[in-house]
Amino acid sequence: MTSDLTFLALSGSLRSSSHNTGLLRAVQNLAPHGVAIDLYQGLGRLPFFNEDLEEGPEPAAVADLRRRVREADGVIIATPEYNSAIPGVLMNALDWLSRPTGQHALRHKPVAVLGASPSQFGTARGQLVLRQILHRIQAPVVAHPEVTVFQSHRRFDADGTFSGDDITESLLRALLAELVTLTDLHAPADAI
Ligand SMILES: Cc1cc2nc3c(=O)[nH]c(=O)nc-3n(C[C@H](O)[C@H](O)[C@H](O)COP(=O)(O)O)c2cc1C
Repeated sequence: MTSDLTFLALSGSLRSSSHNTGLLRAVQNLAPHGVAIDLYQGLGRLPFFNEDLEEGPEPAAVADLRRRVREADGVIIATPEYNSAIPGVLMNALDWLSRPTGQHALRHKPVAVLGASPSQFGTARGQLVLRQILHRIQAPVVAHPEVTVFQSHRRFDADGTFSGDDITESLLRALLAELVTLTDLHAPADAI
């Protein structure tokens, strides 16, 4: 196994007590030895993607996100489900990370996805949309386990802190282990 990996965690919610951001904090606490997880908190600072902006200087917030994704060994995305899809702020970030096509920051970058929602489906539909987008932009995604935290209003407190349970924590550990494996498979040859 590769040692000393860094994963960048993106939450698709800007909400201060977001369950998805809380889920990522729980993932941070479960990181195995040798894995550091940085929580990216700049999603709301990204300008709306507009092809005209690609002709001028790269916006600072975009440059920062792209650099952090490039420097990370892998990315973890926790997404809410909005209208059976993903929130616009997350789609906006993915649009920026998918350009310029072929040299984009998420190309060949291993990704793990998960999500939390108060519904019975726990973002299952939103995660399918996210997986389709990541497939289109050539980011390899952990296939299994699929972590859908349903009835999230019963599992997070008013501050968005995850109350924790054995089954979910075991799934989160398994997801991280699979991301480490995927990262090893996609490591640049000179890094092995
Ligand atoms: C615009 C909007 C659309 C939503 N659509 C769905 C949906 O399709 N499925 C679902 O399970 N929850 C839906 N929800 C509820 C969110 O899952 C819920 O607000 C969740 O807590 C958001 O995640 P967060 O806590 O990380 O902010 C929607 C919420 C909003 C604001």
